Amino acid sequence: MKKVLAVALCLLMIGAICCVAGCGKKADDNVLTMGTNVAFPPYEYYEGGKPVGIDVEIAEKLAEKLGMTLKVEDIAFNAIVDGVKSGKYDIGMAGMTVRPDRLENVNFSNTYAKGVQVVIVKKDSAITSVDDLGAEGATYKIGVQTATTGDAYAQDDFGSDRVTGYNAGADAVEALKTGKVDCVIIDNEPAKAFVRANEGLKILETAYADEDYAIAVAKENTELLEKINKALKELTDDGTIAQIVAKYIPAEG
Ligand code: ARG
Repeated sequence: MKKVLAVALCLLMIGAICCVAGCGKKADDNVLTMGTNVAFPPYEYYEGGKPVGIDVEIAEKLAEKLGMTLKVEDIAFNAIVDGVKSGKYDIGMAGMTVRPDRLENVNFSNTYAKGVQVVIVKKDSAITSVDDLGAEGATYKIGVQTATTGDAYAQDDFGSDRVTGYNAGADAVEALKTGKVDCVIIDNEPAKAFVRANEGLKILETAYADEDYAIAVAKENTELLEKINKALKELTDDGTIAQIVAKYIPAEG
């Protein structure tokens, strides 16, 4: 009886130790945790309750190459850089633009996609070009997703008084539809998705800013950064990335 008890106790202790070790995320070396904001089609969005999209699929392939399994964490966009910096997430991938202020806090991989900031307006809008927004005496209100590059550029160019930040691009688009703002500045591919999903909207022809998307990695995690860059190159060279992009962004025309 004593023996049985001793064995049981032993097992319990082993269990406890394993649990403590397992609770720290870092103990699980085989999981690649991706901090993202799943509200940015076609890069990350929900389909049938699951996160899908260009970033999610590329990250899955990256994880595969690193011999890891991908875990997607859906968080606020403005929490991604800090989360990567603190080690909560191994990578930040969210159609995220390489920006000098972000580079102060995290490293970025080589770029895997291009983005363009564009302006969405109602079809009958008086705004016909980006210049109209900055014209003398213009008071047009601008909706953006908080802490995105669209937010930063709009505040710089048109003053923070005219800019309203929303949790998600879709919320900014909703505000445009209900007349709370006069336009939305956001990345071109999500813009196309939102215009497709909502009647009465269009994208202005003049683009607002060109950008590079890349994957954020903690500054000290140079080993992971190197592995990611190597894997990204392989996935580019063998056409995998182009294939994923083509699946989500059908060629126009
Ligand atoms: N490219 C823009 C930026 O880096 C917007 C990205 C928003 N991404 C998202 N998943 N909500 O600021």
